[in-house]
Amino acid sequence: MGSGIAEVAASSGHTVVLRSRSQSAADAMVAGLEKSLNRQVEKGKRTESERDQVLSRVSATTDLADLADCDLVIESVVEDLAVKKHLFTELDRTCGAATILASNTSTLPVVELAMETGRPDKVCGIHFFNPAPVMTLVEIVRPITASPETMAAALAFAETCGKEPVEVKDQAGFIVNALLFPYLNNAVRLLEQGVASKEGIDAAMKGGCGFPMGPFALLDLVGLDTSLAILDALYDEFRDPNYAAVPLLRRMVSAELYGRKSGEGFYDYHKR
Ligand code: 3HC
Repeated sequence: MGSGIAEVAASSGHTVVLRSRSQSAADAMVAGLEKSLNRQVEKGKRTESERDQVLSRVSATTDLADLADCDLVIESVVEDLAVKKHLFTELDRTCGAATILASNTSTLPVVELAMETGRPDKVCGIHFFNPAPVMTLVEIVRPITASPETMAAALAFAETCGKEPVEVKDQAGFIVNALLFPYLNNAVRLLEQGVASKEGIDAAMKGGCGFPMGPFALLDLVGLDTSLAILDALYDEFRDPNYAAVPLLRRMVSAELYGRKSGEGFYDYHKR
């Protein structure tokens, strides 16, 4: 997600600093970005010189201090509230007073991140969708602490990136995940009940509803670990049985079958 967001921002003319905890992970994000741009050059969507211009706007670092002068920081680490809270404390200490701190969280309460900082009015959610360079929606999440100026700046940023932002209250799942994840969870339930094969369910939702991909291909794209974290956060907030993760999903995460990112989820990507 980090390299996808970097691609979106750098392609729109923003200067981007990609920060990761290890240099190898930071380099891998730049490599992912370069691969995506190269694919676009091969398809004739970009020239080589456009690709080079985009890449020249991106630098990779492990040092949080390199973010100090950024106007906007978009956090996109693991969906774990404790990890994100710790990072927001550090970002608040490191970044200039004017920097807006945003989270790309899928479901977690943005207000709790805001309250880790001395600038809760300058914290909001900027939630991209997978794959970030392709999906046009960005949810702009408004915690009760955010100032109108912060919300306006986040909306304006998304628009400069060519996205179609929608403002949403800071409630678990926001719009898309609150609606999408009961559907994905129930698809796993159908599979567990033996109602149809995963291929059959995917084909049914593509052919019957016109969805671009079926639920199991989408779970593999989003990541089963991320999907489970989203369902757990939704269940935590609403205690609605629709959000209670189906045991098969939890077992697959325990088995480290995370989807595309680990090479195998509902489908096997090693041979593709
Ligand atoms: N990065 C950059 N570009 C990508 C890409 C990626 N990872 N994957 C696909 N693309 C581009 C392709 O280059 C292609 O571009 P072009 O039309 O300019 O040539 C275009 O997307 C279509 O790709 P393909 O032809 O390879 O494949 P498809 O037509 O099957 O489209 C898809 C792939 C865009 C992923 C499509 O299947 C789709 O829209 N799927 C639904 C995705 C979705 O629902 N996302 C939301 C998930 S929920 C979420 O993200 C929330 C989070 O909180 C969990």
